[in-house]
Amino acid sequence: MSAPQPRANVAEIPPYVAGKPPTVRPGMTSYKLSSNENPYPPLPGVIEAVQAGVGAMNRYPDMGSAALYAALAETFDVPVEHLSVATGSVGLIYQLVQAFCDPGDEVVFAWRSFEAYPIAVTAAAATAVTVPVLADGRHDLDAMAAAVTERTKVVLVCTPNNPTGPAVTQAELDAFLAQVPSHVLVVVDEAYVEFVRMADPVDGVATYRRHQNVVLTRTFSKAYGLAGFRVGYAVAPAPIAAALRAVSLPFGVSTVAQAAAIASLERRDELLERVDALVVERTRVVAALRAAGWDVPEAQGNFVWFDLGERTLDFAAAADAAGIVVRPFVGDGCRVSIGETEANDRLVAVAAAFRR
Ligand SMILES: Cc1ncc(COP(=O)(O)O)c(C=O)c1O
Repeated sequence: MSAPQPRANVAEIPPYVAGKPPTVRPGMTSYKLSSNENPYPPLPGVIEAVQAGVGAMNRYPDMGSAALYAALAETFDVPVEHLSVATGSVGLIYQLVQAFCDPGDEVVFAWRSFEAYPIAVTAAAATAVTVPVLADGRHDLDAMAAAVTERTKVVLVCTPNNPTGPAVTQAELDAFLAQVPSHVLVVVDEAYVEFVRMADPVDGVATYRRHQNVVLTRTFSKAYGLAGFRVGYAVAPAPIAAALRAVSLPFGVSTVAQAAAIASLERRDELLERVDALVVERTRVVAALRAAGWDVPEAQGNFVWFDLGERTLDFAAAADAAGIVVRPFVGDGCRVSIGETEANDRLVAVAAAFRR
């Protein structure tokens, strides 16, 4: 008897390796620095907004997420028709590939970059075309533009790049966009945009306004600390946003997630102060690591990258023994989130000892 078979591409989908939870060690607080989460607990008003939504769990959420769209439109000064919300920005990346690629169409992205990219591309039976990041962890945008062929439908630009850390500048992005044909969709993945502190940063909203083929993807998971609730949003010209909404999962963003996102936008200033504090910590950690002899790439997200090659798992084990869980990419390096001050101190100590 023959059994049902998934499409051949399904067997090719690489696994998503989630950041491990902290190892429980008696007498020692352990910290999870493996998923680029926000170490701060939710702000009080956010919890209350969520609690109000909990009582309605027997009802479907507002499928149109009308109040969330209105809040996003007001906050970022964009028309509602230029927005699409989804279950995390990873949901948007899946939707973009699904909406714009036929099987065999090419999606160009840097590598190493966000590990969900090859998963989303393979799941859609599209073809991943990877362009190695430069030695300092930056996107090689000229090589990415050169990798665009007649089959290319989408290019993913991850800025800041997870896991290596650097962000592209506006001048670099403009030069890149000038080289990419206007029928190729350029996704600017801005999951960590709130953490960027650099000269000539990308102004994503101004950029998408100038280009018919640019879409920004953003998330409430990082700066806003709502990773557990799964809310992301895209900003794009109306036809692209409409395509994203057309392929979206009905009722994907739950009532509590919508409530949390709206309450977070209302408290944006407070949340961005927390981001400032994390950036101060990031600056401190990077300086200490460099002083200890580490060649840390520019860190523009809420994480730092250790280029470790064959020593990757040894470093992860050393960190684990010190009560911090990092994210190893075997044979390549470790990504470590900026977390609680104590966790960051431990990272600096472990990394300094590892070099000796
Ligand atoms: C670069 C990048 N994009 C998108 C995401 C997805 O985030 P979420 O689905 O939680 O919005 C992540 C999460 O780690 C990320 O690092």
